[in-house]
Amino acid sequence: MRRPLVAGNWKMNGLGASLAELRALKDRLAQSPVPEADGMVCPPATLLAQARYMLSGSTIILGAQDCHPLPSGAHTGDISAEMLADAGAAAIIVGHSERRSDHGETDALVNAKASAAYRAGLTAIICVGESEQQRRDGSTLEIVRRQLQGSLPQEARAANTVIAYEPVWAIGSGLTPTPADVAEVHGFIRGELGRLLGQAEAGAALRLLYGGSVKPANASELLFVPDVDGALVGGASLKASDFYAILSAYAGRGAG
Ligand code: 13P
Repeated sequence: MRRPLVAGNWKMNGLGASLAELRALKDRLAQSPVPEADGMVCPPATLLAQARYMLSGSTIILGAQDCHPLPSGAHTGDISAEMLADAGAAAIIVGHSERRSDHGETDALVNAKASAAYRAGLTAIICVGESEQQRRDGSTLEIVRRQLQGSLPQEARAANTVIAYEPVWAIGSGLTPTPADVAEVHGFIRGELGRLLGQAEAGAALRLLYGGSVKPANASELLFVPDVDGALVGGASLKASDFYAILSAYAGRGAG
């Protein structure tokens, strides 16, 4: 019942020339569609308007990265959720570990940013995940529980929210947790969501993505773990062929 989602996070990568990759992805999907899953690309804000134009007539969903909690005002250099919606985004990644570490973002701020996404009518992709030290300390579940509790707005529902579990040590490192470790954390998150949203059914309906070094070679192993409803892909989303290969792991198959 949960439709898989593979979302590409381009991070601070992509110039106008990179739109050629988006065109290649669009063409590939037009030739060989993957109706079993949603594909989303989140380029930098500078490319959103052009990407929207490029993607017209395509099934690829456009997303953005980060937003300011307020709709407008004197905040030089910041971009509001409303602006991202206006530029063509349908979703916003919030609480990514790079924002949490580079900019000291707290759970409360991530919560406010997710609420801003809702206010603008967008889906919030809320990221959580433990550091290498926390994994070693055995505090993974406690960290994820705390991040979820702090970052998830009360109004979170399957229709407006996606959770991405991204262990910090797996991001850009080529390392991944074992499928059993992913299953443990995703199962735990599923339970917590039911508790936080006050209804097991609400938690059961929400999509949970795994992120961290997802590549074509490990996609099948990671995407079909129980309670994994797709992936948040960094590096491999920059190449249309790699991103398509990950998305097409779903071709002919259902959700995990
Ligand atoms: P990589 O796929 O490059 O490890 O990045 C994952 C990520 O941070 C996606 O948000």
